[in-house]
Amino acid sequence: MTPHNSARPGAFAKTVLMPGDPLRSKYIAENFLTDPVLVNNVRGVQGYTGKWKDVPVSVMASGMGMPSIGIYSWELYASYGVENIIRVGSAGALQDNINVMDLVFAQGASTNSGYVHQFNFPGDFAPIASYHLMQEGIRSAKERGVKFHVGNVYSSDNFYHPKSYDGNRALRRMGIQAIEMEAAALYTTAAYFGKRALCICTISDHLFKEEELSPEERQTGFNEMIEVALDTAAKMG
Ligand code: HPA
Repeated sequence: MTPHNSARPGAFAKTVLMPGDPLRSKYIAENFLTDPVLVNNVRGVQGYTGKWKDVPVSVMASGMGMPSIGIYSWELYASYGVENIIRVGSAGALQDNINVMDLVFAQGASTNSGYVHQFNFPGDFAPIASYHLMQEGIRSAKERGVKFHVGNVYSSDNFYHPKSYDGNRALRRMGIQAIEMEAAALYTTAAYFGKRALCICTISDHLFKEEELSPEERQTGFNEMIEVALDTAAKMG
């Protein structure tokens, strides 16, 4: 038990998928996992454990933003023996060669968040994905023939900006693939505990091109990412 998790010890599998949205956690559990059991529903975050390809896997929402994923990932690593967290999120693309519905593997996560400054680290810590998880994730995406990109994302504390904000141009110039709001905190927390983390995002919108997804396309793109993430979890055993 933790302040935000009422699951009993051992209730979570070694690998946890984390969408931001609790309804997506429930959707993944009910539509993909075999024999899902609800293990935590404090604040409605919908944590389940079931099986994929006979391997135990859990899914639980992170909520939106770095303070939120910071809390849930900290407790899963520190109190529940979780070894691998795979964030399955959405992101806004910055580069011309990226289209909506593509996957982005966040190899690194640059950020404007203060979260990463709370670890007594001298200088700037560079939050990165677990190489092992990313390697298995990329192998899974190739096996399923899903289009993907690998690179730096930007984990932002801000979804909305004043009109005068011009930061996206600098991000694009520095090769940032996409903007999301959680990876840097997840990667930093994993590093602190010596555990593994990976953020995979489907591109839901493009910040420099007029591209939009229909609700059906959004669901198809999401399902592809979930299958890739679950295959990755199965490969981790
Ligand atoms: N910014 C931050 N997070 C996002 C975005 C965005 O433009 N699109 C999808 N998630």
